[in-house]
Amino acid sequence: MDKLIVQGGSKIQGKVKVSGAKNGSLALMPATILASGTYKLFNTPNLKDVWTFSRLLGSLGIFCELNDNELFIDSRGINSYEAPYELVKQMRASFYVLGPLVARYGKAKVSLPGGCAWGPRPVDLHLKGLEKLGATITVEKGYILAEAEKLKGAKFHFDISSVGATGNVLMAATLAKGNTLLTNAALEPEITALARMLVKMGAKIDGIGTSQLEIEGVDELKAVDETTIPDRIEAATYLIAAAVTEGEIELENVNPYHLATVIDKLEESGCEIDVNNDKIHLKMQGNPKPVDIITQVYPGIPTDIQAQWTTYMLKAEGVSKITEIIYPDRFKHVPELIRLGADIDVSDNFAIIKGGKKLSGASVMSSDLRASACLVIAGLIADGETEVHRIYHLDRGYEAMEKKLIALGANIRRAKTEII
Ligand code: EPZ
Repeated sequence: MDKLIVQGGSKIQGKVKVSGAKNGSLALMPATILASGTYKLFNTPNLKDVWTFSRLLGSLGIFCELNDNELFIDSRGINSYEAPYELVKQMRASFYVLGPLVARYGKAKVSLPGGCAWGPRPVDLHLKGLEKLGATITVEKGYILAEAEKLKGAKFHFDISSVGATGNVLMAATLAKGNTLLTNAALEPEITALARMLVKMGAKIDGIGTSQLEIEGVDELKAVDETTIPDRIEAATYLIAAAVTEGEIELENVNPYHLATVIDKLEESGCEIDVNNDKIHLKMQGNPKPVDIITQVYPGIPTDIQAQWTTYMLKAEGVSKITEIIYPDRFKHVPELIRLGADIDVSDNFAIIKGGKKLSGASVMSSDLRASACLVIAGLIADGETEVHRIYHLDRGYEAMEKKLIALGANIRRAKTEII
């Protein structure tokens, strides 16, 4: 297994191109099941979750090839409706093939995804939505079996705004007979981008960008080319890395609109930020002011930057509070930050951070993708050397992070973990 060795003390400064969104690609890739043909998904990030999803589509008979961030997909050879446990257990987003498979082929067998580092990740909304569209859902030996002669349009309300469930049910509804009305649908940019691709494919969807989606089912869709939106979470991660090291950064190929609330909070903490078109410029001098955050669904503060913000607030002069609404247990990174000298108390779904304590480098363990990122950022401001282990988590969702950070002035290198 690999680790990253981070030497504290460098400022993050310079220009960096933001990659295509991991969660954007993972939403567009299953849509290729809905129509046989060839697709080119541009600006696809070269990272582990995309490779895993490509293997999953491959197991269904769909050809995928990623070259220089251009993902070529040929779905004309699809020959299976079963998503195996070995792949689904690696990545929860594999579950997104359920809706398209049952909509296109009337049958889907997908392993139930496991939990994750921060607790259960239910899929009840995915299943309830597909049942409302007429699918018969049974569970056997850890697999979900969904069957339907032909899905029928229906009204469905998401009790909780869910990115994945909205994507799954939306894709299924495009080929259902009749009209579907989805309320409390997710507003995340990745879902809006999926809806736009589906319309390019011939789907009839009204209300895109709102929480009320009206879909008029069609008989068939066609393959298209599409460009993945920039990764707003990667962008926020680099902004925080620059802010916490009193650096100066310019992000390129980013959509500032997708980061409005994050930019507000960074400005509140004392950062100078300018945005235009597809660039964000951030400059920070001195320590940040303590700024509380509460994670919300879009357009609120995303849960996927909660860990990174926790590290940022370690530098603040004062006490800050982080409240996690989306995943109340998403604090596995806190004990690792405490190993570096952080003063953080977690209870229920919030963390109290007493900033200003000196951090000293140590070996720390990644527990999930965003926790890894927060530990790398902590290494940038800790005295001495910090070893971040199990960075296979990081490789799932950040394209060439250490290369980008080295280009921005960080003293960081990848090494093999000695097996003892
Ligand atoms: C997506 O996960 C993202 N993953 C996650 O990013 C992100 O943290 C999450 O949305 C929230 O923004 C991808 O897009 C691949 P949800 P998803 O369904 O779709 C509850 C990362 O680091 N819920 O929006 O699985 C759930 O428990 C990853 O890139 C149900 O109760 O998240 C949570 O509390 C981590 N029943 C809330 O909804 C369901 O059937 C939001 O989850 C589904 C979800």
